Amino acid sequence: MTAIGAGPPADVPAVRCTGLRQAFGDTVAVDGIDLEVRPGEVFGLLGPNGAGKTTTIRMITTLLPAPPGAIEVFGIDVARRRSAVRRLLGYVPQQLSADGTLSGRENVALFARLFDVPRRDRDAQVDAVLTAVDLLDVADRQVKTYSGGMVRRLELAQALVSAPRVLVLDEPTVGLDPVARDGVWDRITDIRLATGMTVLVTTHAMQEADAQCDRIALMHRGRVQALGTPADLRGALGPDATLDDVFRHHTGDTLADRSGGLRDVRAARRTAGRLG
Ligand SMILES: Nc1ncnc2c1ncn2[C@@H]1O[C@H](COP(=O)(O)OP(=O)(O)OP(=O)(O)O)[C@@H](O)[C@H]1O
Ligand SMILES: [Mg+2]
Repeated sequence: MTAIGAGPPADVPAVRCTGLRQAFGDTVAVDGIDLEVRPGEVFGLLGPNGAGKTTTIRMITTLLPAPPGAIEVFGIDVARRRSAVRRLLGYVPQQLSADGTLSGRENVALFARLFDVPRRDRDAQVDAVLTAVDLLDVADRQVKTYSGGMVRRLELAQALVSAPRVLVLDEPTVGLDPVARDGVWDRITDIRLATGMTVLVTTHAMQEADAQCDRIALMHRGRVQALGTPADLRGALGPDATLDDVFRHHTGDTLADRSGGLRDVRAARRTAGRLG
């Protein structure tokens, strides 16, 4: 991976979590996580529904408060210097975030303003990211006329418009067909090669994680159960093991083994129903 340009020395982790914890009432969503994401790598956070992946990501991206010392992004404490950290981050949330009544271009332009892209660069930067995700032709259509895959690509453009040092993606390819999924990753790879951007991603697609991630942390019940390269994790189970096998091995292979698994799926369905 190419070195990061001006900035902190290369041995400062892109993201460092130390004893990270988050509870919602009696539910301990994140239960003491220690992690280091290296500059320039693609780091996968995997684990079953309710494992605590999104909660971890929301704390890293400053959307949930973290205590001082628990999270640093390129050496900057998220709790103490929230805006400085936000300027380093791009984020594609798990829930869809684009505004359907605005055009694609308007949505991306909004993010360019939010993330302090200098005014003189904004139009060019918005066009550049829309081109990168192949949406320039439809950029002036209302987003409610886009397909699911187009919306996901638009959200990637939103996250990329401020040229982030760390791109955080929460299930970026869910609902995409295999060609569209590869397209998203091709674009991310192009940008990584050009800029040295670090990527932190969650996914339930094990093949995708195997192909795209340099290293993986497998979370279960708020804890990191296993950490390593996909090859190391597979190799530790046996010569023919797949990442699916690794996932089952570390998380229990039936839903009954997982506290909250089914409950979370039911809760997610209820929420989806309410949102229509
Ligand atoms: N705002 C909240 N209020 C109460 N409980 C929450 C909240 N957010 C998350 N939780 C709970 O915390 C736990 C972890 O949830 P989280 O969304 O982090 O899981 P996840 O690993 O991202 O799961 P998925 O793969 O389904 O997206 C779950 O038990 C969930 O119900
Ligand atoms: Mg999640």
